[in-house]
Amino acid sequence: MTILVTGGAGFIGSNFINKWNNSCEELIINLDNLTYSGNLNNFYNKPDNEKHVFAKGDINDKKLIYNLFDEYNFRAVINFAAESHVDKSIHGPEAFIKTNILGTFNLLECTRDIWRNLNANRKREFRFLHVSTDEVYGSLKASEKKFTEQNRYKPNSPYSASKASSDHLVRAYNKTYGLPTLITNCSNNYGPYQFPEKLIPLIIHNALKKKSLPIYGDGKQIRDWLYVEDHCNAICKVLDEGDPGEVYNIGGNNEKTNLEIVNYICEILDKLKPVENSSDIKSYKELISFVKDRPGHDRRYAIDSTKIYKTLKWKPTETFETGILKSIQWYLNNQEWVEKVVDGSYQDWIKKQYK
Ligand code: NAD
Ligand code: DAU
Repeated sequence: MTILVTGGAGFIGSNFINKWNNSCEELIINLDNLTYSGNLNNFYNKPDNEKHVFAKGDINDKKLIYNLFDEYNFRAVINFAAESHVDKSIHGPEAFIKTNILGTFNLLECTRDIWRNLNANRKREFRFLHVSTDEVYGSLKASEKKFTEQNRYKPNSPYSASKASSDHLVRAYNKTYGLPTLITNCSNNYGPYQFPEKLIPLIIHNALKKKSLPIYGDGKQIRDWLYVEDHCNAICKVLDEGDPGEVYNIGGNNEKTNLEIVNYICEILDKLKPVENSSDIKSYKELISFVKDRPGHDRRYAIDSTKIYKTLKWKPTETFETGILKSIQWYLNNQEWVEKVVDGSYQDWIKKQYK
């Protein structure tokens, strides 16, 4: 059998495919239209082999999706494809509506159409897993309990509103048509192959370049950090053992302020790659600079993972300390990957290959 993964050339999707290819023989078809955050250099093995076929295209493209369903016998769809950066959504929400809402709708419609004509066995076994975010629940006060699956949706940015809309559509396709859907709402991920627009890779990159380390507002916003491989393990668990129609919150149990994160990264870099004696600074911490806050900036996210822990026996394997050390070491050892992203050349061979 085969699995359709969308957005598999992005940060989490590519970590998922690398992990899958290391441990499983089943073929993955990776449908991705390679926006700025899609990068075919993210794979241990170049795509288009017996375990991973790359299909360049948009989740809004009905014809292409039908063709893929015709050609491959999908037993599941995993939807990672999205515009994912909150700051970008503030400056240009339209792409978020097109991909996150309309794209998910299109994928659901095509899947429903194919799924309803499957035989009873395959219909029952089929899964549509939608990868979503904790941001749909809005912002928590310091005194409030962590997000459970019962929390009301209160999205605050165009990004989180578009993800919330897509979650509602997925839910409706389960309730109305019986499509066997699963939704995962995960906290902030970090790890290898993350596009350096996001806090952790941005800070590592800027520090190594001796550029300023921008902290929005007072830096006391809290995120619940999860190492990306732990998120991928959770997705596999939910796909294999999750109950159709259910929602699973996934979190790292690692609440940290942004300031704590940035200081900690600087401390590790000071040990692993101390600033040269000739430099104007003695520690990377001297590069920290407080900048204007993000509009509508959510103060705190925190996930209660009790449900997935109790029902599927999933829990993270990395602590923040082990995960961040691995990540920093990865970025130090993969400077070429970062440079190619920063100078744009990561898209060169893609242009040649997929004109
Ligand atoms: P990313 O931006 O790194 O990757 C997104 C991928 O989707 C890219 O490869 C891009 O080319 C592709 N894509 C975008 N629009 C597309 C379209 N119309 N058709 C086909 N492909 C398209 O994002 P990520 O951080 O890997 O996030 C993946 C998913 O996980 C998203 O749905 C996001 O909402 C969710 N999520 C992310 C985090 C996080 O911390 N990064 C946490 C929880 C949930
Ligand atoms: O919570 C899950 C979400 O986490 C995902 O759904 C999103 O796709 C993902 O991008 C992430 O959203 P955040 O907005 O939390 O992540 P980001 O890395 O952009 O920012 C993390 C925190 O750091 C946030 O409070 C904003 C702050 N920040 C970010 C950047 C890029 C800074 O202070 N300075 C920065 O330069």
